[in-house]
Amino acid sequence: MLISVVSTLFACVFATGARARAPGRSRGLQFPRETDGFQNIVTWDEYSLMINGSRLNVFSGEVHPYRMPVQALHLDVFQKVKSLGFNAISAYFFWGIHEPKRGEISFEGFRDVQPFFDAAMEAGLYVIARPGPYINAETAGGGFPGWGTYTPGLWRTSNTTYVEAYQGYMKAIGERIAANQVTNGGPVILVQTENEYTGFQAPFTEDFTYESELKAIFRSSGVTVPLTVNDAFPGGHYLDVDIYGYDSYPNGFDCAHPNDWLPDAVPESFWDSHEQLSPQAPNAVFEFQGGALDPWGGAGYEDCATLLGPEFERVFYKNEFAMSTTMLNLYMVFGGTNWGGIGAAIAEDRTLREKYYELKLQANFRAVSPAFLTSRPMNMLATQGSFTGNQALKTTQVLDVVGNKTGFYVVRQTDASTNDVQAYTLTLPTSIGNLTIPTIGGTLALNGKDSKIHVVDYVAGSTNMLYSSGEILTWASMDSRDVIFVYGSNGELHETAFKFPSSVPTATVVSGTGTIKTRSLAGNSLVLQYTTSGQTVVQIGNILLYILDRENAYQFWILHPPTSGSFAQFSTENPIIVKGGYLLRSVSTTAGTLAFKGDLNSTSAFEIIAPAAFQSATFNGVKLPLAKTRYGTLTAQKTVTLPAVTLPNLAALKWKTADSLPEIQSQYSDALWTVAGHTTTVNPNPHNTSVVLFAGDYGYHTGNILFRAHFNATGAEKGFEADVQGGSAFAYSVWLDKTFLGSFEGISNVYRCSGFFVSDHMGNEENWWAAGDGFKTPRGILRYSFTESSTTTTRGPLNEGGLFGERQGWHLPGFDDAGWGNGAPTDGIAQAGVAFYRTTFNLNIPAGVDYPLALVITNSTTNPNFRSQLYVNGYQFGKYVNNIGPQTSFPVPQGILNYQGANTLAVSLWAAGSGGARLDSLSLRLTSRVESSMPAVVNQPLTPWTKRLGVF
Ligand SMILES: *[C@@H]1O[C@H](CO)[C@@H](O)[C@H](O)[C@H]1NC(C)=O
Ligand SMILES: *[C@@H]1O[C@H](CO)[C@@H](O)[C@H](O)[C@H]1NC(C)=O
Ligand SMILES: *[C@@H]1O[C@H](CO)[C@@H](O)[C@H](O)[C@H]1NC(C)=O
Ligand SMILES: *[C@@H]1O[C@H](CO)[C@@H](O)[C@H](O)[C@H]1NC(C)=O
Ligand SMILES: *[C@@H]1O[C@H](CO)[C@@H](O)[C@H](O)[C@H]1NC(C)=O
Repeated sequence: MLISVVSTLFACVFATGARARAPGRSRGLQFPRETDGFQNIVTWDEYSLMINGSRLNVFSGEVHPYRMPVQALHLDVFQKVKSLGFNAISAYFFWGIHEPKRGEISFEGFRDVQPFFDAAMEAGLYVIARPGPYINAETAGGGFPGWGTYTPGLWRTSNTTYVEAYQGYMKAIGERIAANQVTNGGPVILVQTENEYTGFQAPFTEDFTYESELKAIFRSSGVTVPLTVNDAFPGGHYLDVDIYGYDSYPNGFDCAHPNDWLPDAVPESFWDSHEQLSPQAPNAVFEFQGGALDPWGGAGYEDCATLLGPEFERVFYKNEFAMSTTMLNLYMVFGGTNWGGIGAAIAEDRTLREKYYELKLQANFRAVSPAFLTSRPMNMLATQGSFTGNQALKTTQVLDVVGNKTGFYVVRQTDASTNDVQAYTLTLPTSIGNLTIPTIGGTLALNGKDSKIHVVDYVAGSTNMLYSSGEILTWASMDSRDVIFVYGSNGELHETAFKFPSSVPTATVVSGTGTIKTRSLAGNSLVLQYTTSGQTVVQIGNILLYILDRENAYQFWILHPPTSGSFAQFSTENPIIVKGGYLLRSVSTTAGTLAFKGDLNSTSAFEIIAPAAFQSATFNGVKLPLAKTRYGTLTAQKTVTLPAVTLPNLAALKWKTADSLPEIQSQYSDALWTVAGHTTTVNPNPHNTSVVLFAGDYGYHTGNILFRAHFNATGAEKGFEADVQGGSAFAYSVWLDKTFLGSFEGISNVYRCSGFFVSDHMGNEENWWAAGDGFKTPRGILRYSFTESSTTTTRGPLNEGGLFGERQGWHLPGFDDAGWGNGAPTDGIAQAGVAFYRTTFNLNIPAGVDYPLALVITNSTTNPNFRSQLYVNGYQFGKYVNNIGPQTSFPVPQGILNYQGANTLAVSLWAAGSGGARLDSLSLRLTSRVESSMPAVVNQPLTPWTKRLGVF
């Protein structure tokens, strides 16, 4: 994903029109296409992707393996994605994590990618693998390793020093991806080369040699599935791949104003661009906005969740539907944690937001609408007022141009920013001629910030739906009837009409308080008019129609029992539909019994819609007492069990403390420190000091950086001035001997500052401009401690920085702090400096529940200028900046926290002000309580402290 450059870039580059096609592509190709004879399982044509000849509506969500270090939790996340009705995930892989030191490539421990692929396979999700080498990803160096900052040559070009640099990683990751391709019985169906190879630092331009070189290295690593590209906008870069696609973040990142949308925020030009750039492939959006990053000093993730909430999903995702986007990936569906120095955090404890439930409605509709997979928008440039006569509305007509039957009409507000409600009627062509809907009278209504998909001549099993203004959630054919679910906002008027082969049956309300009006139309058609409110079930011959309001629609889960063979979990046959529960993960079937796995946050009532052969059911292994409704479905009650747990009161624990800044003492020996003696650098940025003081040149890329210098005073010195660059929201402090000179305390968007001056490394810049060297923007000035982390460390180099305490491993479990004084981070220190704190506690949280925990700090207003790092069992799980924020709650996953035993918590406290600092409060809190069938969590190795050799 890319950040702020998108808007300006979009304007300036897109205005110049589409780029020339790269050589080697021609029109008039034979469909379906294969990847040049490599394999014939994953194919495509101009409409959609196909797997084994069946069209697939690729609806996926982005999840990054490196943001969730607990391997056992991937399956929990993937099952939640699968239960949305999605069929794939997309994932970046992070070069800098796999090759932190040049030539030392590791896939051990949390870096192992195999458990990630295995979990996708087990959940039944295909994988779009995106290994880079560049990923951007709002992460340190855009995924480039820190050592790249002092490797000469222009990165993201065909310069041989760069090409040589990525060989090892690309072969290693390529082979692992290849082994997990669908052709080898794994989940990988597509592999993306590079990422957003879109912006080029003048005078350099798109490097076609680099593009071919990357494709070649994938092929030589055994990748045979189609190669894809993710352009930062539909700009026609890197077209010479199998399936070209692009990014879009149309609602921006202004989380501080979550209800303010721009009137023209909804993109309308993508279909045209697609037809110009890659008409021979499906319209593919490999990143569409699913959330927003929030910077240092930002509004906080709850506001971002509002900006990109259910209303956003309805309007913007349905607009993607209107552009026949048959491959749609949402970035991100699970943002994971802020583990280590990777980047800004997405507050995420694996709980489900309302957005989840809205997405489930849309994904399930797509999953049962094959006509969409061969559709075309018919009136992209003439949507305003079309079909409604209401200029305040835009309606896109999307027709199945292969089946020639079904039409989809996507209605939205002309002014995306409005909160006004519009009344409308729709005049649509149907198989019985033009109809104006509602045909029984009254009007339809569209709320501000809403959008709807109305269908015409839609096929649901053996039922022909002449039209429906009520949106379709799903349908299923069971025994000899078709069960169809339609929904609308609470209180809305809608119509659904059916066309029967011969006589028209009567419609009877069999459940619920809703009423229906009916009317017969030509061609044995019957219209039902109703108001969506609660749940009403209507029987019409062999059709069972569920009429739902949105709240009720949210509660349905569409599950598919596994079939046999290695792709058993990918089955989309034999749906079993269940209403109720916080999450239903899966169903399996044996001789008349349905075995459900799911999660509950309260006592739940279930309704089970299944073939009559199933007359018994279990939930998480416990038999459900079943009753039967008069229309043949099953009901059950399940009492939730949420055992009470006692959490430690962190303030009441015994804490130990030690000074973590002995470097300011004159007797401190820096004899073992790296000497900053380079007089030249390969870094393209100029240095204005007698020796190079860029930390990266000496192998230091993350966390706190310390520099120490000696000089003989002449007596003429009046002050000290420095120019320091540390990345957005960094800070630094300066001492002369033991005297504190001062600090730059950090401003959210300031990455470089001169003045008086320990420095905080907030991560390397991304390198969005190809051939630019942005990620080499240096961090540092003088020099600092700690040799480069070896790849063999359990937790990895992005986990810890250069503080004395970190160099000594004070954050690790098992360090003997018996000699330390007593003192807690809430006591703090009374002067500028750095202190380290340690404590231990036990947890006893039983199995069978998902009780996520977070460390929560409250903002301190007295002596506010300080920052803290939180270490749980040695893993850094929080970087708190009191004077900038916004994050105060740091989720720590089970598996990092030992839920059944001892835990070590360490806290660093760097007071940048002369008055010192203390944490106002620090507590461990449950963020949610769910009775859960989640897979058993295996603790990620919590390797203890051992004496580190050569530290100082
Ligand atoms: C690659 O980069 C190096 C270092 O900047 C430069 O000296 C060399 O000329 C470049 N090679 C090519 C082929 O551009
Ligand atoms: C749909 O219409 C197109 C164009 O008129 C025609 O070529 C095609 O055969 C039709 N398909 C069917 C299934 O009737
Ligand atoms: C149906 O409506 C369309 C406009 O939406 C019009 O072009 C067409 O002539 C109408 N057909 C009939 C039979 O009235
Ligand atoms: C259970 O989860 C649902 C869906 O997220 C939520 O709406 C509801 O408030 C939760 N109930 C409780 C008791 O937490
Ligand atoms: C300071 O002066 C002393 C005595 O001349 C000398 O030994 C030492 O190397 C000098 N230190 C520096 C940093 O110049």
